[in-house]
Amino acid sequence: MNTLDAIINRRTVHTFTDRQVPEEIVERALNAANHAPCHRLTFPWRFTLAGPMLRNELAGLAIHIKGESRPLQPEDIEKIRSKILTPSTLLVASRMQCPDPAIAREDYAACACAIQNLMISFSADGVGTKWSTGSITRHPETYRLLGADPTREELIGFIWAGYGDPPETVRRPVLDQVARRTP
Ligand SMILES: Cc1cc2nc3c(=O)[nH]c(=O)nc-3n(C[C@H](O)[C@H](O)[C@H](O)COP(=O)(O)O)c2cc1C
Repeated sequence: MNTLDAIINRRTVHTFTDRQVPEEIVERALNAANHAPCHRLTFPWRFTLAGPMLRNELAGLAIHIKGESRPLQPEDIEKIRSKILTPSTLLVASRMQCPDPAIAREDYAACACAIQNLMISFSADGVGTKWSTGSITRHPETYRLLGADPTREELIGFIWAGYGDPPETVRRPVLDQVARRTP
């Protein structure tokens, strides 16, 4: 697949099947992420490939978080567990902390580039992804479960990867609304 097709075919998948993504595809995507640009060569991105034990613990945490806002029925609990446990691959993306806010801002941009590289590489291999920033991705318990020290790294999203169909979305037309020319 050429690069432009991989970019255009990358679409957020919300419902994944349980089909597993081969290890070499995950490694290729991580290598693509690691080739993102970064100002001052800070290389601020890190990725945690979540294993089955962590995924189980995150499912428990997701159920706990949801249960704080409303009583859950058994089918709600099953739905949450399935959302966390079904997709083949979960990569937790982190930005290494930096005390200078200007550098931290640029580092977040660099991490976003790394995540996009990751997702485009998956796309080139026919794998769907979703970058999610729901409350579980920022929860103190998630840091604890990952062994992540919040003074050293910020968790900036869960990147789900696997197989599934994305919904339809409509993009703004480039020439009318996205790009403009000046004289
Ligand atoms: C920084 C960031 C955070 C996102 N967080 C979520 C999220 O928490 N939940 C979700 O369903 N989608 C999330 N998305 C995916 C967007 O909803 C998705 O990109 C958007 O609907 C456009 O669809 P597309 O990715 O298929 O082009 C996030 C995307 C970005 C870039």
